[in-house]
Order: sequence, then structure tokens, then C-alpha cells
Amino acid sequence: MTPELSDRHLLANLDALARIGAIDGGGCARLALSDEDRQGRDLVVGWMKELGLDVRIDAIGNVIGVRAGREDLPPVMTGSHIDTVRTGGRYDGNYGVLAGLEVVRALNAAKVVTRRPLAVAFFTNEEGARFQPDMMGSLVYAGGLGLNEAYAAADKDGLAVGDELRRIGYLGATKPGALRPHAFVELHIEQGPILDEEKVRIGVVESVQGISWTEYTVTGVSNHAGTTPMRLRRDAGYLAASVNLFARKLAWEMGGDQVATVGALVLRPNLINVVPNRAVFTVDLRNTDEAKLQEAEARVAAHIAEVAASERVAVESKVLARFEPVIFDPGLVDRVERHARALSLSTRRMPSGAGHDAQMMQRLCPTAMIFVPSVEGLSHNVKEHTEPADLVAGAQVLLNLIVELAEG
Ligand code: GLV
Ligand code: MN
Ligand code: MN
Repeated sequence: MTPELSDRHLLANLDALARIGAIDGGGCARLALSDEDRQGRDLVVGWMKELGLDVRIDAIGNVIGVRAGREDLPPVMTGSHIDTVRTGGRYDGNYGVLAGLEVVRALNAAKVVTRRPLAVAFFTNEEGARFQPDMMGSLVYAGGLGLNEAYAAADKDGLAVGDELRRIGYLGATKPGALRPHAFVELHIEQGPILDEEKVRIGVVESVQGISWTEYTVTGVSNHAGTTPMRLRRDAGYLAASVNLFARKLAWEMGGDQVATVGALVLRPNLINVVPNRAVFTVDLRNTDEAKLQEAEARVAAHIAEVAASERVAVESKVLARFEPVIFDPGLVDRVERHARALSLSTRRMPSGAGHDAQMMQRLCPTAMIFVPSVEGLSHNVKEHTEPADLVAGAQVLLNLIVELAEG
């Protein structure tokens, strides 16, 4: 008999963690490796220790709490991240980590020792809002990025991951990936509208779409806004605006899962009466189909080349992150569905629109994800919300699945 998960600590701990880096509207700003991230880490590590977990910190700052099993086998791992974007909600990532702790609490209370060890992890810099690429900690863990390359990634102020890890006290000693899981399951809010619109309780995640992040730096010529005829302009801001419009039209035209976002844009000198001589902007393209994602990338690049030539501006590009779509382990995906249905929860199979640590862990071991609804599909927004009953339902599915995997 699998123990029942209680909501008491889950909801209280989500509240307590959300108080660190709290921002107006109920959200959180805990950018990776910031002081707020350190405080959040300290709080969660304290909870891990209270639950009796053996806490290990690796060289990229991933934190893994291990609960011994009856046998010394590869563990069943769950987890997510506790860093947030600057305007983040309180559930993205945090929910999966804290639900993992509730799995441990329920097993402790029922005095159940599983055959395999269990591990609850939170990975460094999943968001990629401060340092790129995103999913950095899990990518290093899975062997997809070297430590030195990760350490060198710098934020907008030139502060590097390696130095910031050391500064906040989370440059650990263990080798990332040393603990190779038997299976990995990540519980997460959907962050999109589908489950909420369709009134489905559990999303059975089959895949994660491919992600392409590029930063463009455009150099034009500053000049007087009143005196410079349109034919003589070399306007860096014009190219940025044109790409934003083009990307929107392209996504509509390609249809399917294609999405496109210009999320960051800085103009220089950013004055009302000066033609901008510099624009730095980002393009985020995603698709579940790798060939279509490549098509979108090629079409954006062609548009940029065309406008750059006609406007006589120079463009440099830098790939900040590029991950192909990931298909989760079909057997594990079936198990997610079976456990949700056994709890009489409605289910729906779906891809993930957001990036997740699970997509990196699939490189190491059979991996799957469980989604719960996001009210009105809001995420990366302070108003991100999931109903408590859904939070508890998702955590119970996680608990039941983990117990089954840990006995297998
Ligand atoms: C990470 O949260 C992403 O999908 O951008
Ligand atoms: Mn997340
Ligand atoms: Mn996120």
C-alpha cells in the first residue's frame, strides 16, 4: 500500500520558499546564483536534512538529497529547479522539488524503505534568464556541457557562473552525473493553457519541443531624427522591430507548434530624437519538429540578412542555447498515465512547450514528466497559479510512480 501524501507541508513550504525574493503580485525573483537563490537553496537544503536526506552538492551547484534504499542500487530520482526568471511565479520548478520532499516525508511517516534509493534534486540555472544556456545544471549533469564552459558563462554585468557559484557557497565537490539514476521523473506545472482549458487534471508529457535561442547585435549609425532623410538612415532599431514582426508572422504562417518570441531588446542610445546606432535583441524559436525548427531558424536568418543589406547595418549573432526536441521514455510515460488513472484523475498526453531539466536527464536514463494545470495558462508571470487540489494530486501521482519504480 502506497502512503497518502499530505498537503500541509507542500503548501506551507511553497509559501515559505516564495517569500524569498518575493515581488509584487505574489511572484518571485530568484535569478540563478543570486543572493536570493542562495537563500532559497539554504532553505531547501535545511528541509532535505530535516527529512534525513544525505545532501550532496556537485561542482555545478546541483543539490541532490539521497534517501537510502534496502539495496545499494542506482536511485530513482525526481526534482526540478528553484531558480526563477526575474518576473517568475512561485510554482515553476519549485513545485517539483518540494513535491519530491513530500514523497520522502510520506515514506518516512509510513516507515517505508524502498528497494532502490530515492534522490530529490534541484538543478542549477534551469531558467537561463541570467546565464545561458538554460537547463545548465542538468545539461552538465548529463554530460552535455563541460564544467569549464559552464563556469565561463557570464551575465549581462560580466559576472561568471564559476565565480558566482563560489560566492554563494554552492561550488560543491562531487562530480556532476556521478550518481546515475535508474529513472528520472519531473513533476511540473504545465505553464500553458491546455489542461486548464480542457479541465484535465494530469498532463502525461511525451516530449519537449526543440529550443533555439539567438542573440543579435546590430550596428548602425546614430543620427538626428529630424534632419536625417529616411533614405539615409542606418537604423539598428528598425532591424530589431522588423525581426519581431517577421517572427510573429512566420509562426502564424508555419502553424502547428511553431512559436517565436523577441523577448529582450535594448536600443542605444535609446533617446526619442536619435536614430539608434545599436540594437541587441534575442529570438526564441521552438517547435516539436526539428526540421521545422531548422526551417524557422533559416527563414529568420534570411530575413535579417535582407533587412541588414537594405538598411546598411551590420549584424552579429550568437547562439545562446540550442536543443533538439526530446522524446521521453515510452514505458515510463505509460506508467505516468496508468498511475494518474488509478487515482481517477483525468489525463491527456501532450508535449511540453517549456524547457525542463527532464529533457537533459533523458540522455542519462529513462525519463518522464507529470504536468498539473496552470490557471489561465500563465507562467513566467507573478500571477502563475495552480489550485492546491491539483498540486496535491500531481504529487500523489509522483509518489505512487516513484514507489513502483523504486521497488522495480
Ligand atoms: C525555461 O523555463 C524555458 O522554457 O524558457
Ligand atoms: Mn521550470
Ligand atoms: Mn521557467
